[in-house]
Amino acid sequence: MAEERSGREIHFLGEVRGGEGGHSLPTHDPQSGLADLMAPLGGRLSHPYCHGVIIVSNYLLACQGRGRHLPIRTVIEPFKIKSVEPIRWTTREEREPILARAHYNLFSIPAEQILIDLLTDSGTAAMSTRQWASMMEGDESYAGSRSFTRFERAVREIFGYQHVIPTHQGRASERLLFTCLCKKGDVVPNNTHFDTTRANIEYQGAEAVDLVIPEGKEPANRHPFKGNMDVEALARLIERVGRERIPLVMLTVTNNSGGGQPVSMENARAVAAICHRHAIPLYFDACRFAENAYFIKLREPAYAGRTPKEIAQEMFALGDGCTMSAKKDGLANIGGFLCTNDDALAQQEGNLLILTEGYPTYGGLAGRDLEAIAVGLHEALEEDYLHYRISSTAYLGNHISAEGVPIVQPPGGHAIYIDARGFLPHIPPARFPGVALACELYLEGGIRAVEIGTLMFGAHAAMDLVRLAIPRRVYTQSHMDYVVEVVLEVWKRRERIQGLELSYEAPFLRHFTAHLTPV
Ligand code: F0G
Repeated sequence: MAEERSGREIHFLGEVRGGEGGHSLPTHDPQSGLADLMAPLGGRLSHPYCHGVIIVSNYLLACQGRGRHLPIRTVIEPFKIKSVEPIRWTTREEREPILARAHYNLFSIPAEQILIDLLTDSGTAAMSTRQWASMMEGDESYAGSRSFTRFERAVREIFGYQHVIPTHQGRASERLLFTCLCKKGDVVPNNTHFDTTRANIEYQGAEAVDLVIPEGKEPANRHPFKGNMDVEALARLIERVGRERIPLVMLTVTNNSGGGQPVSMENARAVAAICHRHAIPLYFDACRFAENAYFIKLREPAYAGRTPKEIAQEMFALGDGCTMSAKKDGLANIGGFLCTNDDALAQQEGNLLILTEGYPTYGGLAGRDLEAIAVGLHEALEEDYLHYRISSTAYLGNHISAEGVPIVQPPGGHAIYIDARGFLPHIPPARFPGVALACELYLEGGIRAVEIGTLMFGAHAAMDLVRLAIPRRVYTQSHMDYVVEVVLEVWKRRERIQGLELSYEAPFLRHFTAHLTPV
């Protein structure tokens, strides 16, 4: 049902749910009870472009904007295509031997033999004309490059930290930070550590602890900020191991390993308060900070009228520094940085940087890369872009879940995660349901996705997921329609899909090189 109230900012389409008890408002009478429903939200409903609102646990869960200028609801790609890259069709008959030659491991298939590549959203973005133009301005001076000054200015403006250290990608920033801060026996809490973050902490002999809220581990739970950290669990951990063993706390925005789910400003504030009370530095893993800021704008009522940039600035002001992979929300194909407000730490990190990455004004990057990142960071915060970005990911998720495909709900920012245990309940985790599903998506339509489950994490995997990560500004809506169709074709014949067994595994990070055989 649709109801509009002229002269007001509020327009309803369908059901409205909410309040502490999760009560529903009848769709035929959205006005009655609205004030009660909105009271915990401070009486503010939405921003002026919203026309549909679902409220769960006192947050706006969905707020479908009309777009700022268009009276039409179709969300279009906010760009024209100037340069195209052909993709290659293969037939199912061709794909079968390709997959067998790759030992049923999609990492081993040459990219040319992939039609739609959803392996990762990292380093796969399409750059804008402004980014390409800025690259021609790249100053390749070894020391004191003009491009570094531009890069530093862009990073400081958004992130606000004192020291900006360029690196070749996110994990290089992690290595510098943890080498300087962590020692054997230390403990580093995070909402959920990404695998390189965890590996870099463990490499120092420290322990990486995941403290995401319980809702973050339930695929079907529609909590709007499933990336939040369990603040009570953090307080208990500090109490148990002692402040001296915790050199820093991290918050990953958005929470990649937990389904691309955002962290609310309220949660970041609560985590920061605990950190400040115990004098523990708070660092953000900021890879997808712009997507996280947009989710806050959509779902945290106090931020409906703020720009994503203002929201990002407010969040980073709560911390002491960050690690960043510019291959995500930097809209660049390579690059990253490390920020801190700590002068002594910055000096130590800078020294280490010179040893392995490069001089502090290029840190392993070309001057042109620094230029592309300086422009990309601002483009990633543009509202038209973020509206399209979040909508296109949700479009894929909503279309497959409407047909019954179990996914991590609600759709994340950069990816859709299919629950492979729910999709293939007849395949036990030991037979790798996520790998089986990813292989079927390739066989059916030449799509490459990645398993995040038993192959990646071994017997400790809490879930078997298949991630469909969406490169930024690369695929159009018809590509997404194609992906939906392929997933649904596989869904129809799910009962006939079989599991696999391992025939080779490396001693660590086995998912990259494993050999598997269908059973
Ligand atoms: N932190 C998070 C949350 C990440 O998602 C990644 C990379 C990194 C750190 C490391 O950054 O790759 O530049 O060294 N994630 C990619 C992915 C690889 O596919 O999710 P990097």
